[in-house]
Amino acid sequence: MIVKEFKEEKFNLVKPLYDYLLENYLFENPDLQILELGVGFYFEMALKLKKNNYNVTVMDFNQKAIDNANYLGLDAFKDDLFNPNHSLYREYDIIYSVRPPRDLQNDIYNIAKLNNCKLVIQPLSNETPLESLKVINYNGKILCKL
Ligand SMILES: C[S@@+](CC[C@H](N)C(=O)[O-])C[C@H]1O[C@@H](n2cnc3c(N)ncnc32)[C@H](O)[C@@H]1O
Repeated sequence: MIVKEFKEEKFNLVKPLYDYLLENYLFENPDLQILELGVGFYFEMALKLKKNNYNVTVMDFNQKAIDNANYLGLDAFKDDLFNPNHSLYREYDIIYSVRPPRDLQNDIYNIAKLNNCKLVIQPLSNETPLESLKVINYNGKILCKL
Protein backbone atom coordinates (compact mmCIF):
# COMPACT_ATOMS: atom_id res chain seq x y z
CA MET A 1 0.00 0.00 0.00
CA ILE A 2 1.16 3.56 -0.68
CA VAL A 3 1.13 5.44 2.62
CA LYS A 4 1.03 9.22 2.70
CA GLU A 5 1.25 10.91 6.07
CA PHE A 6 0.04 14.43 6.86
CA LYS A 7 2.46 17.18 5.82
CA GLU A 8 1.80 20.76 6.92
CA GLU A 9 3.59 22.18 3.85
CA LYS A 10 1.27 20.19 1.58
CA PHE A 11 -1.74 21.46 3.53
CA ASN A 12 -0.86 25.03 2.47
CA LEU A 13 -2.23 24.22 -0.99
CA VAL A 14 -5.74 23.94 0.45
CA LYS A 15 -5.53 26.34 3.38
CA PRO A 16 -7.82 28.93 1.70
CA LEU A 17 -10.37 26.18 0.92
CA TYR A 18 -10.15 24.96 4.53
CA ASP A 19 -10.56 28.48 5.91
CA TYR A 20 -13.46 29.10 3.55
CA LEU A 21 -15.35 26.03 4.76
CA LEU A 22 -14.77 26.94 8.39
CA GLU A 23 -15.71 30.57 8.01
CA ASN A 24 -18.80 30.00 5.89
CA TYR A 25 -20.25 26.76 7.27
CA LEU A 26 -18.38 24.97 10.03
CA PHE A 27 -17.85 27.62 12.68
CA GLU A 28 -21.60 27.99 12.87
CA ASN A 29 -22.48 24.31 12.35
CA PRO A 30 -19.55 22.13 13.42
CA ASP A 31 -21.62 18.94 13.19
CA LEU A 32 -22.21 19.16 9.45
CA GLN A 33 -21.31 16.05 7.45
CA ILE A 34 -18.54 16.75 4.96
CA LEU A 35 -17.55 14.66 1.94
CA GLU A 36 -14.42 15.01 -0.21
CA LEU A 37 -14.86 13.70 -3.76
CA GLY A 38 -11.90 12.30 -5.73
CA VAL A 39 -9.49 12.45 -2.81
CA GLY A 40 -6.78 10.45 -4.61
CA PHE A 41 -3.64 10.42 -2.45
CA TYR A 42 -3.95 13.98 -1.23
CA PHE A 43 -5.26 13.58 2.33
CA GLU A 44 -4.12 16.84 3.93
CA MET A 45 -7.49 18.58 3.80
CA ALA A 46 -9.46 15.65 5.23
CA LEU A 47 -6.84 14.90 7.89
CA LYS A 48 -6.87 18.51 9.05
CA LEU A 49 -10.67 18.49 9.26
CA LYS A 50 -10.64 15.23 11.19
CA LYS A 51 -7.90 16.44 13.54
CA ASN A 52 -10.14 19.38 14.39
CA ASN A 53 -13.08 17.06 15.09
CA TYR A 54 -15.15 17.76 11.99
CA ASN A 55 -17.13 14.91 10.41
CA VAL A 56 -15.33 14.17 7.18
CA THR A 57 -15.51 11.25 4.76
CA VAL A 58 -13.53 10.87 1.55
CA MET A 59 -14.29 8.98 -1.66
CA ASP A 60 -12.53 7.96 -4.84
CA PHE A 61 -12.89 5.22 -7.42
CA ASN A 62 -9.33 4.05 -6.80
CA GLN A 63 -9.43 1.29 -4.16
CA LYS A 64 -5.78 1.96 -3.25
CA ALA A 65 -6.67 5.54 -2.31
CA ILE A 66 -9.54 4.25 -0.16
CA ASP A 67 -7.26 1.71 1.56
CA ASN A 68 -4.72 4.45 2.21
CA ALA A 69 -7.42 6.76 3.60
CA ASN A 70 -8.64 4.00 5.95
CA TYR A 71 -5.08 3.33 7.03
CA LEU A 72 -4.79 6.98 8.02
CA GLY A 73 -7.98 6.68 10.07
CA LEU A 74 -10.31 8.40 7.61
CA ASP A 75 -13.81 7.20 6.79
CA ALA A 76 -13.78 6.45 3.08
CA PHE A 77 -15.80 4.76 0.37
CA LYS A 78 -15.30 3.79 -3.23
CA ASP A 79 -17.70 4.86 -5.97
CA ASP A 80 -17.68 5.94 -9.61
CA LEU A 81 -18.77 9.54 -10.07
CA PHE A 82 -19.70 8.81 -13.69
CA ASN A 83 -22.21 6.23 -12.47
CA PRO A 84 -22.82 7.11 -8.83
CA ASN A 85 -24.69 5.04 -6.27
CA HIS A 86 -26.88 7.91 -5.11
CA SER A 87 -27.75 6.31 -1.79
CA LEU A 88 -24.14 6.90 -0.68
CA TYR A 89 -24.41 10.69 -0.84
CA ARG A 90 -27.65 11.46 0.99
CA GLU A 91 -26.22 12.07 4.45
CA TYR A 92 -23.79 14.86 3.50
CA ASP A 93 -24.24 18.59 3.92
CA ILE A 94 -21.02 19.86 2.32
CA ILE A 95 -19.14 18.44 -0.63
CA TYR A 96 -15.72 19.64 -1.66
CA SER A 97 -13.19 18.48 -4.20
CA VAL A 98 -9.55 19.39 -4.77
CA ARG A 99 -8.26 19.57 -8.34
CA PRO A 100 -10.90 17.22 -9.82
CA PRO A 101 -10.52 16.43 -13.54
CA ARG A 102 -12.61 18.85 -15.64
CA ASP A 103 -14.66 15.99 -17.08
CA LEU A 104 -15.78 14.98 -13.55
CA GLN A 105 -16.94 18.38 -12.47
CA ASN A 106 -20.37 18.18 -14.02
CA ASP A 107 -21.02 14.88 -12.21
CA ILE A 108 -19.80 16.45 -8.95
CA TYR A 109 -22.14 19.36 -9.54
CA ASN A 110 -25.07 16.97 -10.18
CA ILE A 111 -24.46 15.01 -6.97
CA ALA A 112 -24.34 18.21 -4.91
CA LYS A 113 -27.51 19.54 -6.59
CA LEU A 114 -29.43 16.30 -6.19
CA ASN A 115 -28.56 16.03 -2.50
CA ASN A 116 -29.01 19.69 -1.74
CA CYS A 117 -25.41 20.02 -0.54
CA LYS A 118 -23.11 22.99 -0.36
CA LEU A 119 -20.37 22.50 -2.94
CA VAL A 120 -16.90 24.05 -3.14
CA ILE A 121 -14.33 23.00 -5.74
CA GLN A 122 -10.70 24.00 -5.73
CA PRO A 123 -9.82 23.67 -9.42
CA LEU A 124 -6.41 23.33 -10.97
CA SER A 125 -5.05 26.86 -11.21
CA ASN A 126 -5.00 26.97 -15.03
CA GLU A 127 -8.44 25.46 -15.52
CA THR A 128 -11.60 27.17 -16.77
CA PRO A 129 -14.30 26.68 -14.12
CA LEU A 130 -17.69 25.15 -14.89
CA GLU A 131 -20.15 27.79 -16.04
CA SER A 132 -22.75 26.52 -13.59
CA LEU A 133 -20.51 27.40 -10.61
CA LYS A 134 -19.82 30.76 -9.06
CA VAL A 135 -16.14 31.73 -9.07
CA ILE A 136 -14.77 33.44 -5.97
CA ASN A 137 -11.32 34.69 -5.06
CA TYR A 138 -10.77 33.79 -1.43
CA ASN A 139 -7.47 34.78 0.19
CA GLY A 140 -5.80 34.68 -3.22
CA LYS A 141 -7.14 31.27 -4.26
CA ILE A 142 -9.77 30.72 -6.93
CA LEU A 143 -12.60 28.58 -5.59
CA CYS A 144 -15.81 27.56 -7.36
CA LYS A 145 -19.03 27.16 -5.44
CA LEU A 146 -22.61 26.20 -6.10
C1 LIG B 1 -6.46 14.84 -10.56
S1 LIG B 1 -6.69 13.63 -9.28
C2 LIG B 1 -6.89 14.70 -7.87
C3 LIG B 1 -6.63 13.94 -6.62
C4 LIG B 1 -6.56 14.81 -5.37
N1 LIG B 1 -7.83 15.44 -5.10
C5 LIG B 1 -5.47 15.84 -5.50
O1 LIG B 1 -5.76 17.05 -5.52
O2 LIG B 1 -4.29 15.44 -5.58
C6 LIG B 1 -8.34 13.10 -9.62
C7 LIG B 1 -8.88 12.01 -8.70
O3 LIG B 1 -10.19 11.70 -9.15
C8 LIG B 1 -10.37 10.31 -9.11
N2 LIG B 1 -11.37 9.94 -10.11
C9 LIG B 1 -11.23 9.98 -11.45
N3 LIG B 1 -12.35 9.54 -12.03
C10 LIG B 1 -13.21 9.21 -11.04
C11 LIG B 1 -14.53 8.71 -11.00
N4 LIG B 1 -15.18 8.41 -12.12
N5 LIG B 1 -15.12 8.52 -9.81
C12 LIG B 1 -14.46 8.81 -8.67
N6 LIG B 1 -13.21 9.29 -8.63
C13 LIG B 1 -12.60 9.48 -9.79
C14 LIG B 1 -9.01 9.73 -9.42
O4 LIG B 1 -8.88 8.41 -8.94
C15 LIG B 1 -8.09 10.72 -8.73
O5 LIG B 1 -7.81 10.32 -7.41
